[in-house]
Amino acid sequence: MFKIGILNGPNLNILEKRDQSIYGTLTLEEINQKIRDAAEKENIELIFAQSNSEGEMIDIIQKWSLQIDGLVINPAAYTHYSYAISDALKDCPVPVIEVHLSNIFSRDEFRQKSVTVPVCTGQIAGLGHYGYILAVNGLHALIRQKKR
Ligand code: DQA
Repeated sequence: MFKIGILNGPNLNILEKRDQSIYGTLTLEEINQKIRDAAEKENIELIFAQSNSEGEMIDIIQKWSLQIDGLVINPAAYTHYSYAISDALKDCPVPVIEVHLSNIFSRDEFRQKSVTVPVCTGQIAGLGHYGYILAVNGLHALIRQKKR
C-alpha cells in the first residue's frame, strides 16, 4: 500500500468563492472526492490537509514526510515567495509534485515564478482538478518503480 499526501495552501478552502473562470466551480472537498475516486482502484492510501498558514504547512510537510511515500502540494500564493516552504520541501525525502489549478505562466507576472518548484520532482499547471489526479498517478508510478 502506497501513501500519498495531498496538501493545499491558502484560500483553496474557499475555492468555490474565487474566480470561477480561473479556478472552476468545484469545492476543495469535491476535488478531494474526485482524487479519492480515481485512487480507489489503485493500491493508494490518501491523506488530505489544507492550511491558510505557512508555518502550519511546514509542520504538516515535516510530519508527513516521515509517513508518506509521495506528496502532492498546491502551495497557492506561497508558491511565489515562500522560501520557508521551499526549504521544507527540499528536506522532504519523498518525491513531490507541485500542482496548480490554473496555468500560472499565463497569468500575472508575479505568479509566473515558483520558488518551490526547483525542489520538487515536477509540476502540473493549468489542468484544473485533473492535475491532482495526474500527480497522484505519476507519483504512484515513480514510487512503484523505486520500490521494485
Ligand atoms: C494557484 C495559483 C496561485 O497563483 C494562486 O495564488 C492560488 C492558486 C492555482 O492552483 O492555480 O491561490 O496555486
